Amino acid sequence: MKTVAATALLAAVASYAAPAKRAVTDTDILQYALTLEHLENSFYHGFLDKFDDAAFTNAGFPDWVRGRVKNIAEHEAQHVALLSGALGSAATQPCTYAFPSVTDPKSFMALASVIENVGVSAYLGAAASIMESAYVTVAGSILTTEARHQAWLNSAVEKAAAWSGPEDTPLDFDEVYSIAAAFITSCPTTNPTLPFKAFPALTIAADGTVGTTAKTDGAFVQLLQGLDQNTYPVVNGKVQGLPTTQGIAYAVLTSQGNSTLVGDENILAGPVIFNSPFNSKQSNPAPNF
Ligand SMILES: *[C@@H]1O[C@H](CO)[C@@H](O)[C@H](O)[C@H]1NC(C)=O
Repeated sequence: MKTVAATALLAAVASYAAPAKRAVTDTDILQYALTLEHLENSFYHGFLDKFDDAAFTNAGFPDWVRGRVKNIAEHEAQHVALLSGALGSAATQPCTYAFPSVTDPKSFMALASVIENVGVSAYLGAAASIMESAYVTVAGSILTTEARHQAWLNSAVEKAAAWSGPEDTPLDFDEVYSIAAAFITSCPTTNPTLPFKAFPALTIAADGTVGTTAKTDGAFVQLLQGLDQNTYPVVNGKVQGLPTTQGIAYAVLTSQGNSTLVGDENILAGPVIFNSPFNSKQSNPAPNF
């Protein structure tokens, strides 16, 4: 039976297109989550090995920062252990990764904040497809922890906002897979094949110019921030009327002009991640693509 509150909530989200139900099993979802946790685990441990306490203080970080990042790295290792334990001998193994934008502790911390946000969006987007309710609790407990990591990284370290808006942004499986694939160099051939694919890369310049190998004629850009989804036409290779965003937002190139119908099945490229400065004194800050 629906309660009054649930009915009101459903009405409020009626305009939001929930990720289409995919023919994925809970095992696929656990493997997908583990794929992301391996990436995060390798990211943190790899760069903490490279950048010691002195590197962090020389980069201008207070002396308590690296210790807390170490704590985050331990959480990611624990997430790997938790999901690997659930999957047993079938658990997907770590790949090799490349994070070319990271050259020092500063760029490491900046990418950490984005990666945590993608983690939040991944668990949020997958939640509706999980069959076994006990896994929803496990996924939820990881999701909220990743959100705390992201909030701490962004506010205490980056001196930006701890959130991007009143709701976080769910991403579909292939959208997340595309972001992760950009960091993956190669994977063990023994890893299970997952029913997910990566889209071609997408860039959107400050003047709206769309960069991708996909065809942009007649295409649209869908902006995803929180539960808001809007599409903007691409004309002569430039997206028209894309608004500025605050905090972290995503955009994809799609063949579908009706925003509520955009999903993995009609995405042509992306996502691109917009990480814009969040200035509390300014209601409409300039984008920082
Ligand atoms: C978009 O698709 C939804 C679902 O089919 C439909 O209800 C809505 O009217 C469409 N909007 C437009 C502008 O075509």
